[in-house]
Amino acid sequence: MKERGKDPREYDKFRYGDAHRFERNLRKQGYDAFRIVEGDASAFDWSSLTSVGALLLDIDVYEPTMKVLEAVYPMLAPGGGIVLDDCLPDNPWDGSLRAYREFIEARGLPFIRVGHKGALVRGPEVIR
Ligand SMILES: C[S@@+](CC[C@H](N)C(=O)[O-])C[C@H]1O[C@@H](n2cnc3c(N)ncnc32)[C@H](O)[C@@H]1O
Repeated sequence: MKERGKDPREYDKFRYGDAHRFERNLRKQGYDAFRIVEGDASAFDWSSLTSVGALLLDIDVYEPTMKVLEAVYPMLAPGGGIVLDDCLPDNPWDGSLRAYREFIEARGLPFIRVGHKGALVRGPEVIR
């Protein structure tokens, strides 16, 4: 955080998140088959999943975003993808954009904008 010149106080705004609120919101949207895993997403063993169809990555902090991208990319199902939120420059949350850019550039992947501030990493295409 210091290395990237970020003010740690910006991250106090992250303290609102909690599992109960998340569960309530998922149910409100009509989902009932899910498992909530709390903790550091970059410490989760993504390889314990069979595959990943879709991931919304909204961490905003460079290092865990990069670690999750590296861990999940090989797990993507054909036709699946990872959408990163907040991929905009020059704001306290631009770690997302930096991780995304470095990740796609290292693999020769295209920059795919989703909406106003999202970005997409596509999984392998389905071969017919
Ligand atoms: C921009 S907020 C988005 C939260 C949620 N998507 C929402 O819309 O309410 C970023 C969230 O990432 C969480 N976060 C930061 N680093 C994380 C990490 N290493 N693992 C899991 N969550 C993390 C923060 O606690 C914060 O709640």
